[in-house]
Amino acid sequence: MKDLFSVEGKVAVITGAAGVLGGSLARHFVAQGAKVAALVHRPEQVEEVLSVLGKENLAFACNVMDIPSVEKISKEIVETWGRVDILINVAGGNVPGATIMPDQNFYDMKQEDWNKVLDLNLNGTIFPSQVFSRIFAEQKEGCILNISSMAAYDALSRVAGYGAAKSGVSNFTKWMAAEMAIKYGEKIRVNALAPGFFIGKQNRAALLNPDGSLTDRSVKVMAKTPMRRFGDITELNGAAQFLCSDAASFVTGVVLPVDGGFSSFSGI
Ligand SMILES: NC(=O)c1ccc[n+]([C@@H]2O[C@H](COP(=O)([O-])OP(=O)(O)OC[C@H]3O[C@@H](n4cnc5c(N)ncnc54)[C@H](O)[C@@H]3O)[C@@H](O)[C@H]2O)c1
Repeated sequence: MKDLFSVEGKVAVITGAAGVLGGSLARHFVAQGAKVAALVHRPEQVEEVLSVLGKENLAFACNVMDIPSVEKISKEIVETWGRVDILINVAGGNVPGATIMPDQNFYDMKQEDWNKVLDLNLNGTIFPSQVFSRIFAEQKEGCILNISSMAAYDALSRVAGYGAAKSGVSNFTKWMAAEMAIKYGEKIRVNALAPGFFIGKQNRAALLNPDGSLTDRSVKVMAKTPMRRFGDITELNGAAQFLCSDAASFVTGVVLPVDGGFSSFSGI
């Protein structure tokens, strides 16, 4: 009997696949027998990623906001493998200039940086979804998984733009889930994961001191995380596989927290 959670043989496109969480997801999907097309940002990451994933997979460099590049890549994937089953939109993150540090205020924020963080996280999810869902609409089948954040639930200090963008990702996930199911059929599903706090390149300095101890900010994170730890980068993989597999055939429009309880706990 086929494993309900299997993604074996499926074609999975993963953006941000050279990153910490995207890399872990790409390696996991390959290990589960999926064919992975890794979308990375810089050309030199193409070979790096393929050397890890294996040459039987594909890798392309692009800016996820550049629709013509993403369209060109989508055609190459379909020419090679004949179809696409899964899109995981992982590219994203905070933009340093958009962070309002404790010694700054709202009026120090530059509109240019605000636009950058919104563009990357929101349009960087929406534009690839528009490109690849055309394939899903033709196939009448496919699944999208977006990456939201704890910053989408309640306001986190400092990251106003990132929070606004990720709230947009959560809302867009629900909107697109309804749009695709109603107009293109029930076999096209759109969901999101909302990771809690995982140590990555982008947030390491905010969460860990150089000696590895917790920063003032991560002491507050731990106080609101019932599991009292950060997530391991492999701990998104199971939730992602579930949402991209037949096990989730009646699940669309959800934003699933993978957060050690952060989003459900008041902290007291
Ligand atoms: N690490 C966490 O704790 C955490 C928590 C919640 C959400 N997230 C989200 O998870 C995702 C991955 O985060 P991460 O920690 O792995 O970060 P990361 O920086 O390791 O990965 C992000 C990747 O996106 C790529 N990227 C950036 N701009 C791009 C562009 N314009 N076009 C194409 N690719 C681009 C980067 O090259 C990088 O490889 C992000 O969307 C982030 O917001 C992370």
